[in-house]
Amino acid sequence: MEYSQDNSLEILLSEEEIIARVSRLGEEISRDYANVDDLVLVSVLRGSVYFVVDLSRCLTVPFTLDFIGINKYGNTKDSMGIVRITKDLDVNISGKNVLLLEDIVDTGLTLNYLLKNLRTRNPLSIRVCIFLDMPGRRIVDVPVDYRGVEMQDVFVVGYGLDYQERYRNLKYIAALKKD
Ligand code: PRP
Repeated sequence: MEYSQDNSLEILLSEEEIIARVSRLGEEISRDYANVDDLVLVSVLRGSVYFVVDLSRCLTVPFTLDFIGINKYGNTKDSMGIVRITKDLDVNISGKNVLLLEDIVDTGLTLNYLLKNLRTRNPLSIRVCIFLDMPGRRIVDVPVDYRGVEMQDVFVVGYGLDYQERYRNLKYIAALKKD
């Protein structure tokens, strides 16, 4: 059992557990894409970077890595989580097989927007791989093809997830008690 020095953090997933789950995802994806050409990994900035670095090193299939940056405003169905692209892909994904990588899906608003946007670019296929799923917080349904772990509706930090930009670099995932 791993303990945090910080009393406001309760570790939910240790570094070892994260590594095990990421490598299992890597095996699964490598198997599924073994005979597929032109795989493009799309990492959504910024939180997913930690996951993407680890996952990509577990893949045994060739791929191109690219990044898309987004800003979102509002977290309700009415505002539909207005999302703005702050950094677009460098790669043209038309005719390519895209694997969209996210650290977490909460409301699903970001993923919903990104999928719609990327589909207009005529990729051959799009699948979604996320590390952490919080289905209890979903506002819109989104397809998830690969999932690292599912969790309860708690505020979590670490492994790319931040609270006011802090804690992203924690090697574990922890619940943050904000008081
Ligand atoms: C997080 C995460 C997803 C999004 C998921 O990003 O990386 O992109 O929230 O939330 P949703 O399902 O409710 O839309 P965030 O906006 O915190 O930006 P960051 O990755 O730069 O921290």
